[in-house]
Amino acid sequence: MSENNPAPSTSPAPSDKPAGEAAKPAVPVPAAATKPAAPAAAAAAAPKVSGAAARKAGGATEPLPPPPSLQTRRTFMTWGIAAWLVFFGWLGGIGHMFLRFMFPRVLYEKDPKFIAGKKSDYSEVNKVYELYKEKQGTWLVRLIEDGEDHLVALSTVCTHLGCTPNWLEAEHKFKCPCHGSGYFLSGINFEGPAPRPLERWHVYVDASGNIVVDRSRKFRKDLQQWGDSDSFIKMS
Ligand code: FES
Repeated sequence: MSENNPAPSTSPAPSDKPAGEAAKPAVPVPAAATKPAAPAAAAAAAPKVSGAAARKAGGATEPLPPPPSLQTRRTFMTWGIAAWLVFFGWLGGIGHMFLRFMFPRVLYEKDPKFIAGKKSDYSEVNKVYELYKEKQGTWLVRLIEDGEDHLVALSTVCTHLGCTPNWLEAEHKFKCPCHGSGYFLSGINFEGPAPRPLERWHVYVDASGNIVVDRSRKFRKDLQQWGDSDSFIKMS
């Protein structure tokens, strides 16, 4: 080779570092130290996955809230149904009032009259017949009063406060269980707070020979009504 064109050298290029340092081998640097933000950056850069896809992928079962548009629709439907219910309730009330107006409630009282058998069913004198006590509120009593044999129909309502007395055969008297009023066979009060005798009903014999008790008419002794011939049946 000539001095003017020296041959290219294959040795490394001279460095300006000292020879000792240049000879040192390169120390490996940990990857975490050199690239700390790589995973976060990767996550941020990754495309967002939808909820359904995530569930499909991960097998999650937790339901997600419906989208706002669906929530709004549900709320509207709920309020709509409630409004219809209120409307129909109001309509029902109006209809009920209309029906009550067109068909007013009528109180059907039971017939005040009832047939109480024949005279022959009351064969014993000075006896209280209780056959019609429960259903008709009436005792049929055959007794001698003023020297005559009568059949009378007594009300079972105590004249104190309206309880129902009991007939005590052994003591031969009516006794009220509420406050102790006592009445004779005739219905005249003799003990307790009852202010007056029991009331009697209109009683008569119809054309067929039936004894009829008519509770639409009553007779009170304190009003001197027991002398009325409509308040008893002559038995002999
Ligand atoms: S109700 Fe009969 S004694 Fe009072």
